[in-house]
Parts: sequence; C-alpha cells; structure tokens
Amino acid sequence: MPSLTASPAWQALARHRRDMGAVSTRSLFAADPERYRRFSLEACGIRLDYSKNRITAETLELLTGLARERDLEGLREQLFSGSAINTTENRAVLHTALRQRHDAPVTPDGGPDVIPEVRAVMQRLGAFVDGVRFGSVTGLSGRRFKDVVNIGIGGSDLGPLMVVEALRPYQHPDLRIRFVSNVDGTHLYDTLDWLDPETTLFIITSKTFTTEETMTNARSARDWFLGEGGTEADIGKHFIAVSANTAEVAKFGIGPESTFNFWEWVGGRFSLWSAVGLPMAMAIGMERFDRLLAGAHAMDEHFHTAPLEANMPALLGLLGVWAINFWDAPAHAVVPYDQYLHRLPAYLQQLDMESNGKSVDRDGNRVDYATAPVIFGEPGTNAQHSFFQLLHQGTRPIPVDFLAAAESHNPFGDHHRLLLANMLAQSEALMRGRTAGEARAELEAAGTPAARLDALLPHKVFEGNRPSNALLYKKLDPYTLGALIALYEHKIFVQGVIWNLNSFDQWGVELGKALARTTGAELAGAPAADHDSSTAGQLLWLRERMATES
Ligand code: F6P
Repeated sequence: MPSLTASPAWQALARHRRDMGAVSTRSLFAADPERYRRFSLEACGIRLDYSKNRITAETLELLTGLARERDLEGLREQLFSGSAINTTENRAVLHTALRQRHDAPVTPDGGPDVIPEVRAVMQRLGAFVDGVRFGSVTGLSGRRFKDVVNIGIGGSDLGPLMVVEALRPYQHPDLRIRFVSNVDGTHLYDTLDWLDPETTLFIITSKTFTTEETMTNARSARDWFLGEGGTEADIGKHFIAVSANTAEVAKFGIGPESTFNFWEWVGGRFSLWSAVGLPMAMAIGMERFDRLLAGAHAMDEHFHTAPLEANMPALLGLLGVWAINFWDAPAHAVVPYDQYLHRLPAYLQQLDMESNGKSVDRDGNRVDYATAPVIFGEPGTNAQHSFFQLLHQGTRPIPVDFLAAAESHNPFGDHHRLLLANMLAQSEALMRGRTAGEARAELEAAGTPAARLDALLPHKVFEGNRPSNALLYKKLDPYTLGALIALYEHKIFVQGVIWNLNSFDQWGVELGKALARTTGAELAGAPAADHDSSTAGQLLWLRERMATES
C-alpha cells in the first residue's frame, strides 16, 4: 500500500480541496434546496446533520474512496471478530462483545468464546447491584448504603462519571454516587467529609490495579474507614474491586467474593460497558444499564453493516479527516446543548486523544500528516460566552459537534425553546458568516457615522464556512446515550484506520509516570538526580517550602 499522503485517494482529495477553496458552504446551500436531506441520516435514534461541512457529493465520494483504499471495511471486520489489532500489546479489542445482544461466539484472537463469561460477570454484578439498591446488601451495621464512592482514574473514572451525570433523571433517589480520581488529597478529603463509614460503599476501579493515583486514594480511603470504626473484617463489605488483575486485588486485601473481573481485551477508555460500569448500574439500575448496552449494540450493528456512504461513525470520522488534514483544523469542539452531558467533552478528551494522539503509525514510522485534534468543549449556551468568539472569528477552522434533545427532562418555562434556538442560530452563523456588504448594511441601518463605520467594519465581518455537525435525539435516555458513546468510539476507530494508527495503546502516558517515581523520591528527600535546570529549580523551590510547612 502506498504511503497515505502519496496514495491516489489522498492526492485526489488534495486536488479537490484546492477547488473547494473557492466554494462557500453558503453558496452550496443556495444552489441545492435538498442539501439537508442529501447530507443527513438517522440511526439508532440519532439524527446526524452534516450538511454544514464544506463538502459536496464529490467530497464524500473521494473520502469513502480513501476509506476503502485504507481497507476500513477489512479492519472493521477484524475489530468485530476479535483479531489482535492492538499490535503493540498483542491484544484483541472487544468492547463490542460486552454489549452484544445475541449469542454468536466471540473468540479473541481465535481463543475460547468470551460471551458466556461476560454474561456470568454481568449476572453476578446485577445481583449485587439489586442487593445494594433494594437494601438486602448492607454495610457493617446492617444499615442500607447511602453513598457509593468510585475510586479510579482515566477510563476507570471518566466514562462512568459522564454516564452517571448524563442519566441523573433516572437515578436512585437515596443512593448518591461520588467519584474520586485525582491524587490531589483534596479530592478524597472533600468527598470523605460528607460520608458515614457505616453507609458508604467504595468501589476501587482499576484495570491494572497498580495505577498510583487509584491505589493511593484506595489506601487512604481504607485508612479512613478503619480510623472511623470499621475493622479489617468489614473491609470486604465496604470495599469492592473492579479489575482485570485479580492478583493485585488480592494483595490489597479484597477477596474474590468482592471482586468483579474484566479482561485484557477491554481497553481502559472503552471499559464502561464492563463491570467498570458498576457505579452507573448502582445509579440507574440493571434494566437501564441494559438499555445503555442495547443502544451501543444497535450502533455497533449499524457501523458493522451499513455501507460507508450511509454509515454514521464512518462519515463523522471521514469528515474529521477532511477538516484536519485538508483544511488544517487543529481542534474539534464538542458542545452539548444538554446540561446533563456536561462531562461528555472531558470523556471524549481521553477517548479521542489517548487513542489517536500519536505521531508514529502502526509500522513504527513517523507520520507526515496531522492526527488527533485537540478535543475540547463545554455545554451550550455557556460555551457561547467563552470560546465561541474564536470559533466564529479565529484564524483556523474548528469543527463543532452540536448535540441536542428535542425533549427536555425538565420542561421549565421557556428554557428549552431558548436552548434549541441558540443551538440552531450558532450552527447557522458559523456556516453563513456575515459578508462585508451585510455588515455595512447593518451598520448603516443602525445610523453608524461613516468614520466609525469604516473602523468597525472589519470587526463585524464573519468569514463563515465553519464546519459543524448536529447530533439530534428525542430525549437523553439510556438507549440513546449508549448509541451516542458507541458512535464516538467508532468514529475514532475510523480515523485511526485512515491515519494507520494503533488507536488502542497509550505508550505516551508512560514516560511522565516513570519520571514521577524519581521526582517523588526527591521530594521526599532523596538526592536530586541529573535534571535540567528548570525541573531542578522547581523541585528545590518546592522541597524547601514543603519542608518549612511540616
Ligand atoms: O492514563 C493511562 C491509563 O492507563 C488509561 O489508559 C487508563 O484508563 C487509566 O490509566 C487508568 O488505568 P487503570 O484502570 O489500570 O487504573
């Protein structure tokens, strides 16, 4: 296969990009009243409108041509069939098996079928969740649990936290779900402050069970529990482990009866569908957790079977490639006009940037093209009052995903209409822009004096052509959320295939972790190693003051 940028499909896209430089999206809408119908589709309860991207039918043909040239369909097959596509760790990537509804066997890298084991863990988990939610499983004094604290970080935190927040309308009224992730003691301290050890259940979630932040928080939580009257014999009742490393769990002192397993073929950032979803299940119950899995499975089926031209994750991925590689978009904004999705951008930061934030391809070669964008976002309308200035008038195009529900969980006065009106207006403004002629006419209509008008005019012009996607759904329920998350997972997979990346490892997080072992020892008083003068200077400055305080 020729290198990506030298490939015929890439070269054709580069030529097409040059032609498209002269074509505004606004003119494309004016020329084609059917543009919305042509460039939108619906799957699994989600309506995707991508017509505000700077594309034509030819663009899509070339992009899907690129996808076929890079064998997206073949790699998609390998993903679902359990080939070891995570080559640097020699692992299959089977988060799709965790939500599979039918019984077709799934055999990671030709091994035994994993579906029976997945179902067995879920059944045990379900019994435990029901026990806690309905009060038959209790703590040391027989009182019902009131607080569940998940201790985990990265994929063992962001997904479950995002889902718990997103599905708050469905939450158990008497069970509070809390999350502690940061090794900053403030996070744990602030959380413990609210808790009664007799009615608190800790879930220690870590695939490896060696992550420094999680183990430090877990040990401190255990010390707090023992200091507040709990005994070693009560630990099994108040500390649950979710992990793929049962040996490390046992070393921590949590027995198999209090441990829920998952497997090496589940990547951390793709793990919320496994027992890692325990805090979610505690919040919304097993039936709704099952609906979340069903929504994700429906999106899996869509991604697996729909032709690329009508395939939502494929289209989103390819539109991202178009923006990043051919229009130099450095970032991608995620703006849910849905307050319950306020942690979605944070969740997607890990999902996207830990997967595709790489500069070496699957074969170990340095790439000569841009890969993952910087993902950022905030709920609308808040975002409009922070970074939208840059989206409208900054120097580089930054695609936006707008997300919105037709129906609010909280129909409160006129709020929802205003919310949706803003979302529609922002995507229209980004696409249309405002020409100098339009700006002049508006200033004249407002009676602006000529000298002031000339000075103001350049500031009032909006170039337009800023791409956006709208992801619309009826209401944010578990099924829709499951489909939405799976949509983003597969979008990221598609981009990884085009860029020839291994989207499933994360070697880039290792170096800092290793160096922190040295700096940690040095802060504790060990002689300083051979650092650059900046690191050495900061270390000394901090160490002197830490020492003064103690
Ligand atoms: O940040 C690196 C990472 O390995 C993530 O990929 C992972 O989600 C997170 O740490 C937590 O890992 P674990 O679940 O093993 O504690």
